[in-house]
Amino acid sequence: MTVATIDVSRLGQRLDALAEIGRIDGPNGEWGNARLALTDEDRAGRDLVVDWMRALDLDVTIDRIGNIVGVRAGRGADLAPVMTGSHIDTVGTGGRFDGTLGVLAGLEVIEALNDADIVTERPLAVAVFTDEEGSRFPPDMLGSLVYAGGMPLEAALAIEAVDNQATIGDELGRIGYAGPGPCPPLQPPHAFVELHIEQGPVLEAEGIEIGVVTDVQGISWTEVSIVGRSAHAGTTPMAMRRDPGFAAGAIATFVRDLTRRIGPPLVATVGRVELVPNLVNVVPARATLTVDMRHTDDAQLAAADALLTTYLEELAVAEQVEIATRSLASFGSVRFDPSMVERIASSAERLGYSHRRMVSGAGHDAQMLARICPSSMIFVPSVDGLSHNIAEYTKPEHLEAGTAVLLDVLLDLASM
Ligand code: GLV
Ligand code: MN
Ligand code: MN
Repeated sequence: MTVATIDVSRLGQRLDALAEIGRIDGPNGEWGNARLALTDEDRAGRDLVVDWMRALDLDVTIDRIGNIVGVRAGRGADLAPVMTGSHIDTVGTGGRFDGTLGVLAGLEVIEALNDADIVTERPLAVAVFTDEEGSRFPPDMLGSLVYAGGMPLEAALAIEAVDNQATIGDELGRIGYAGPGPCPPLQPPHAFVELHIEQGPVLEAEGIEIGVVTDVQGISWTEVSIVGRSAHAGTTPMAMRRDPGFAAGAIATFVRDLTRRIGPPLVATVGRVELVPNLVNVVPARATLTVDMRHTDDAQLAAADALLTTYLEELAVAEQVEIATRSLASFGSVRFDPSMVERIASSAERLGYSHRRMVSGAGHDAQMLARICPSSMIFVPSVDGLSHNIAEYTKPEHLEAGTAVLLDVLLDLASM
């Protein structure tokens, strides 16, 4: 029997071709992507991936939240498929590998199996999940959350964009990806394995090729809306101000201090701040900002959220502003199935790659799939630990190592 082998240059060509859609060029030759969920760029990216899936003879279905699943038949037609995949939407200043690697490595595995005429016992499926990033339509991992039954479809379709200009349902219809397939699916996958870049510095710093992901840390996103009073910047004495701009800055300082008080691994980020009217000589009338906090221990994350709530109450009184909050995302930490983790570690070992177990700092579709089937993830190194940055990069030898492990694990899982 022919042995299936990964062609990393073919994988690289697909990564580059997809990254041409919504391309952003930086000043020093670095380039990345803006393919926010359900935009025209996302549609063009989806169309390209669907064309590739059809060219590889996959049976493609689109479900009602827009997830795309391409299935390669197995000998056991009724057996639940072994699934891989990830997402192709990006943050507004995203890299070329975050998400896309997991999808296109899945297609590379399929092409390698087609070339070698290998038929697996179970079907193999490659999934593209809708709106993993959540930058335009929070929460993150939305498509896989609905797929796993974690949010009712109708509630997801009604989610509004952060600019309040459209809902998920509207945009799915507009870009032609409001599919007919049931979501959640009628039959959950047999297992799910996602290949992803690490998006952090650990593997590179330790010179390790493969990360075997054991857990994903918990995530809490809060949107804070502050209403004060617009006033003249020159004439209004400091004691008479009700200043949402100041309050927004104070909150950013508070969450940084909180990470020192609670200590690692708590991380906290104020990633979006909007001031109205946003003018040099006007005390703002309103501010909206987001707080992203993450911790591996759910109790510590809840404690950080509670301290933030208390601080916001005190700040509202001290600055005479109104503060309202809205939870945009709240996901507990996830422990992957130990036998899946073991499979990935033994596959890396068998193929001769250095590997270590690690916790994921980022959110991933696999954490949602873990609700319905045994799941785990393979990480490969990110140069300088950079991600959510157009300079995000992973070396070809690491793309190859990760995809080879993915192939090996999928073959193993699909053999029974
Ligand atoms: C989403 O993928 C996140 O980790 O922010
Ligand atoms: Mn990702
Ligand atoms: Mn991302």
